[in-house]
Amino acid sequence: MPGAEGLTYREDYFADPAAWRGLVNLLHDTFGIDVGQLDRLGGPDPTSRAFAYFDEAGVCVANFSLFSMPMVIDGRAVRAVGYQSGAVRPEWRGRGLYRDLMQRAFAWANAAGCELELLLTDKPALYEAYGFRAVAEHDFKGLAPMADSGVAKGRLLDLDNPGDLALTTRLLATRAPVSSRFAVTRQGEMFLLSAVFDGDIRLSYSASLDLIVAWQMDGAEFKVLDVVAAKMPPLSTILAAIGTTATEVTVCFPPDKLGWEGEALERRPHAGLMIRGNVSLIHPLALSPMAGF
Ligand SMILES: CC(C)(COP(=O)(O)OP(=O)(O)OC[C@H]1O[C@@H](n2cnc3c(N)ncnc32)[C@H](O)[C@@H]1OP(=O)(O)O)[C@@H](O)C(=O)NCCC(=O)NCCS
Repeated sequence: MPGAEGLTYREDYFADPAAWRGLVNLLHDTFGIDVGQLDRLGGPDPTSRAFAYFDEAGVCVANFSLFSMPMVIDGRAVRAVGYQSGAVRPEWRGRGLYRDLMQRAFAWANAAGCELELLLTDKPALYEAYGFRAVAEHDFKGLAPMADSGVAKGRLLDLDNPGDLALTTRLLATRAPVSSRFAVTRQGEMFLLSAVFDGDIRLSYSASLDLIVAWQMDGAEFKVLDVVAAKMPPLSTILAAIGTTATEVTVCFPPDKLGWEGEALERRPHAGLMIRGNVSLIHPLALSPMAGF
């Protein structure tokens, strides 16, 4: 490709430790995040497919990845992919490398028969040109229901503890979607990364219910971010598992399975959700922050 002289195109290279390290370095240098933490969390998502250019020294100079992101939308199973890890090193920008990698990834998703494509970005104009449209996300805020008195307070998990990590991984593999309106069906790696990236996120485990609640105090706001369970319990049970005395709660996913309703308030994220595909959405909706990518 013109503009890529001296570079080598590589696809699906995560099994090569040096190349994987190259991507980790690119994302660290571009976004200041360490996705190398996935190595101790069970490895990258096996459905990931990366499209990249490497220089002669083996430095990853440009990358764009996709991963399978099965979802339930309005009660229907949807074959979706998420795009992530899009970056080009500054000295290689403006030559069409990203355009080339995006087009390769879009073509791959298309050939694989995916129905919906999702990404999160602070540069919507970049993707509008390819038919992506921005979708507003809402959180749900309201009075907390009385916590279920028959449910004991859970314990906090520590993902540095191998037993807690194994437990979390087990539950993520068999989880039910948090919502029938809009939710991921299976997505473990993003949950684990989100939890280690943000030290304010707490994971409460209820042994009697065998479920994990991801939650956070955001200033004075008490937020339920995600629930990992084989069957979604009502909000009163979730609050008991956390052991909170909060009188108000913000639920960061559509609460249709919670036996509770809150006022929908538009989220103002740094990187907004964009989608492409012929799938009708029921608003208001949001992707759990733990499924963010
Ligand atoms: C955004 C980024 C990936 C673009 O890489 P690049 O190799 O310079 O992009 P290209 O030269 O292939 O340009 C591709 C297209 O995107 C457009 N574009 C580039 N940067 C853009 C920006 N910041 N906003 C909107 N459009 C942009 C180009 O004009 C070009 O449009 P065209 O195809 O109509 O000519 C790169 O600047 C980068 O890594 N930025 C920091 C990380 C980042 O923001 N990643 C995207 C996360 S969603």
